[in-house]
Amino acid sequence: MSTPSGNPSASKIANVMQETRVFPPPSQFTRQALISSEAQYRELYERAKHDRDGFWGDLARQQLHWFRPFEEVFVGEGHQVAWFVGGQTNLSYNCLDVHLDRALGDRTAIVWEGEPGEQRRLTYTELHREVCKFANVLKRLGVQTGDVVSIYMPMTPELAIAMLACARIGAIHSVIFAGFSAEAVADRNQDARAKVQLTADGLYRRGKVLPLKDTIDEALTKSPTVQHCVVLQRVGNDVSMQVGRDHWWHDLMAATSADCPATPLDSETTSFILYTSGSTGKPKGIRHTTAGYNLWVKQTFAWVFDYKPTDLFWCTADCGWITGHSYIVYGPLSNAATILMYEGAPNFPAEDRFWDIIERHRVTILYTAPTAIRAFIKWGDHHVDKHDLSSLRLLGTVGEGINPEAWMWYHRKIGGERCPIVDTWWQTETGGIMMSPLPGITPTKPGSCTRPLPGVVPLIVDEDLQPVETDHGGMLCIAQPWPGMLRGIWGDDARFVQQYWTRVPGNYLTGDNARCDSDGYYWIMGRIDDVINVSGHRLSTIEIESALVSHPAVAEAAAVGRPDDLKGQAIAVFVTVKIANPSAELKDELKAHVRKEIGALAVPDDIRFTSALPKTRSGKIMRRLLRDIAAGKEDISQDTSTLEDYSILAKLRGDEE
Ligand code: PRX
Repeated sequence: MSTPSGNPSASKIANVMQETRVFPPPSQFTRQALISSEAQYRELYERAKHDRDGFWGDLARQQLHWFRPFEEVFVGEGHQVAWFVGGQTNLSYNCLDVHLDRALGDRTAIVWEGEPGEQRRLTYTELHREVCKFANVLKRLGVQTGDVVSIYMPMTPELAIAMLACARIGAIHSVIFAGFSAEAVADRNQDARAKVQLTADGLYRRGKVLPLKDTIDEALTKSPTVQHCVVLQRVGNDVSMQVGRDHWWHDLMAATSADCPATPLDSETTSFILYTSGSTGKPKGIRHTTAGYNLWVKQTFAWVFDYKPTDLFWCTADCGWITGHSYIVYGPLSNAATILMYEGAPNFPAEDRFWDIIERHRVTILYTAPTAIRAFIKWGDHHVDKHDLSSLRLLGTVGEGINPEAWMWYHRKIGGERCPIVDTWWQTETGGIMMSPLPGITPTKPGSCTRPLPGVVPLIVDEDLQPVETDHGGMLCIAQPWPGMLRGIWGDDARFVQQYWTRVPGNYLTGDNARCDSDGYYWIMGRIDDVINVSGHRLSTIEIESALVSHPAVAEAAAVGRPDDLKGQAIAVFVTVKIANPSAELKDELKAHVRKEIGALAVPDDIRFTSALPKTRSGKIMRRLLRDIAAGKEDISQDTSTLEDYSILAKLRGDEE
């Protein structure tokens, strides 16, 4: 039996995960990789750390088009920073025009597949043309640099076109995932003071039509600043169009010129805001800039995904999340990549849709989320076995920690043991990837996001703000500014400072706990607020959950603390299983399993089987809701607007024991 390393201490988090497997990068991959030696990484890392301005200044000059060169690479400190001061560039120009200038206009930019099965391809020339036209449409509707455009659209090429059109004229987009309620859209529109709304008549989801325009009609009754609404015809259902306010996308585009030069924008111009849920209170509009953000996503895409012109890159996220912004639209397109964009559900018409898409389109790089991987495992290997996945050469994950057993399945079943896996740690706030293996050089350990990218200087501190020792968990901070960092919370500077910059002065506080092992590898241990304190031992959620997921009967698990008179907190776990009618004996078996995997300290006091876990619409387990349920609270006082399926709450309150 293993025991937690180190002494129990109120301010440090015990490390109880015993993961020793290591997977070196395949030599074939290394030979062709952009970063192909440890020395190369070291050199980049050290220069970015010790000559930050020289490093980023050189890259910015090489990687971005400048209408006006910048005078200073960086000014400021803490939360008040500016990158590439005095320069002017444009995100849309860097994603489109520069490629046309280099005779890459015929290259495919987007391969799109609709849920019902239609396919479209857009070359860079075609995408450029659509973006220019739509930018002119926006201008005609009165949109100017600095105005906010709210986007609530299905995953169609027009969604990317809309984002790029905003960027072209310096309008600020606020993309809202098209699964949010009218109330959530209205809240975000009001907070952002959105001027124009973009939507569609509907979207396809698991074979059904969701009436997006109806939701928007309701949202717009509470969005007083919105003057116009542009509606894409996607499903052809009947929608009501309010004269003067509502316009069909195709009508506006029909008579519009494709001549729309990109507006030169100051480096620090806000490019977009993206709302993300806080643990309390209203959602925060995370604000990103133009030049710094563009450079960060362009460079991290190149380093982490090792993109080559022969690749077809598929990020399965929705553009409503930061992953879609950075690694469907801006990162790949800045690199003249060819991306696959899929509109619908992974289980329509059957649970093999992703594998079918990969086989038919010959996808080479797949970037998806642990929540999806756990669903695939639950659905069964036979869905995968039907398909030829030999085109894949690289796999990625993002959004949550990946349980080592899910990692192993991804590695064996999807990667055929030949594809490196890049477990990428980052946040809406960071703009792009911060820690990740570099696929050509980094030996991977299942469950670790491995090492920081050049320019990222992590720091882990305990509650007394002292740096923790090797293998001790603590609060993860970033000690050095990086170009892609958020510049604020829209309209709420005080919250921005309080949330990220106050607790650990001079550092960006990520809100995650992490530990760093003796190889310099980072292990994200979950959110700071989710730590479970059992008899003075602070345990991280992911480690208990990973132990449970390594049991063959378990599909998913969520661990939370509930008040306990004796121990301070007791461990309650919510478990979904792969079998029907789990027995009481299975609970004992799971307790014994955790005891064997981690130790007596982490054995759950309560185990509850459930058919599903409460998740955010982007697939993260909502542990704070489970905390209330485990504590037996009748009223959930928390903000549940981001919860994906409300019916789960009722089920979890006990009827499913
Ligand atoms: O807790 C970390 C978790 O997701 C949080 C960021 O969520 P969001 O802003 O929605 O962005 C998701 C896409 C980047 C982080 O604070 N997280 C994200 N990636 C990982 C992760 N936790 C562990 N490992 C990861 N690879």
